[in-house]
Amino acid sequence: MDRELFDKARAVRANAHAPYSKFHVGAALRTAAGTMHAGANVENASYPEGWCAETSAIAQMIAAAPPGDARSIVAVAVVADRIDGRLTTPCGGCRQRLAEFAGPDTPVHVSDPSGQTRTFTMRELLPAAFSLEDPV
Ligand code: THU
Repeated sequence: MDRELFDKARAVRANAHAPYSKFHVGAALRTAAGTMHAGANVENASYPEGWCAETSAIAQMIAAAPPGDARSIVAVAVVADRIDGRLTTPCGGCRQRLAEFAGPDTPVHVSDPSGQTRTFTMRELLPAAFSLEDPV
């Protein structure tokens, strides 16, 4: 677990716009340049138009810097309530979006608000990922 990243994800979770599901999620990313970016889920009255916390964090990262290390994700933290006792993991779409900027060994720390954490690699979350690059 990455305490600094967890704290950032937990803090931004408080700003989630989730009046429909009432399920508040915070995500934070650390980049190879040492920067951090955070985002929360943003729901919409037209339900499919809402988006996830991970997607918000990626948008923050892109807005903050041009291509380079500052767009290379080296760690991810996601904070949300447990569902039926299970920690919340990124949805399928967000796994693919994270994979655009992360590597297969990038850790994804998923935590409940108390800080109980399980860490996955991107490879575990998205095996046999689709990519237009040559596999390494
Ligand atoms: N959600 C996220 O923001 N990230 C996840 O990893 C899982 C789901 C959001 C989407 C929606 O606003 C709410 O949680 C319930 O699905």
